Amino acid sequence: MKLWIKDNTVAQNDKLYLYGVGESCFNCFFIAATFCYNSLESRQARRGENIYMNVLGIDIGGSGIKGAIVDVETGQLCSERLKVETPQPATPQAVIDSTCQLIRLFNWDGLIGCGFPAVIQKGLVKTTANIDQSWFDINVQKLLQRETGCSCAVINDADAAGLAEMQFGEGRGRDGTVLILTLGTGIGSALFYQSQLVPNLELGYLPLQGAPAEHYASAAVRKNEKLSWQNWSKRLNQFLNHVERLFSPELIIIGGGVSRKYEKFFPYLETQAELVPARLLNQAGIIGAACFAAGKFHD
Ligand code: BGC
Repeated sequence: MKLWIKDNTVAQNDKLYLYGVGESCFNCFFIAATFCYNSLESRQARRGENIYMNVLGIDIGGSGIKGAIVDVETGQLCSERLKVETPQPATPQAVIDSTCQLIRLFNWDGLIGCGFPAVIQKGLVKTTANIDQSWFDINVQKLLQRETGCSCAVINDADAAGLAEMQFGEGRGRDGTVLILTLGTGIGSALFYQSQLVPNLELGYLPLQGAPAEHYASAAVRKNEKLSWQNWSKRLNQFLNHVERLFSPELIIIGGGVSRKYEKFFPYLETQAELVPARLLNQAGIIGAACFAAGKFHD
């Protein structure tokens, strides 16, 4: 018996002939090889298409490390969202160990995108505002790659959340200046103009009342100082007015865990810009990190 397998779209000049199917192990080997050659992934790779439909997104935060498998075409989570505690002190080895523990829960060996709460340049940690100082200049991307054996891409956590909101959330179709702020342990910020990200903006470092703004107006400050929603909103409003003067955004998107409770504090806020809660809530960081990795490894 003679079998000719040819994929018209990608293998115009490839002719694979298999003889005597079932007659010997040798033939079995060729069948398996042909199968792999024509598998969806290898055909897509040869066409140069993005083969990463599903990517594991990880969001490393001050109190928790969260993850889920993300369909990067739709921005939908296609697994449960799992979480482990951020170890204290959050030293590099401790955080990487906890992150690997989370990754093992997914039994994952594919591409990983990771949001990290610091300035990230070429995989290197360049600031240590809310994390252990020993992170400075550590290549978190390489470390994660080495420990997991997976391809990994690392991006600032707020930039990740911003990318997700721009692609799948409130920022979709908004071409002007859009500012995404994530309120949590710190204040994360991501600025877009014509859908282009200005990375590592770090507006949480802006001085406000003699201290970095995130020490005065983050969501963690509200809890730690037991501020009423109204009193905290006054502080947040000062911060928002400050950044409005600097960037004149047409839209400000408020993300982070507290955005779920936006009804409690939005009524006290007054901005020139349109102000909306993030649509993807605190899943934005996971989704954006996964999409960032898919885009990066596609290029
Ligand atoms: C960090 C930022 C981060 C933000 C939110 C700040 O303390 O400096 O890089 O985006 O917290 O996690």
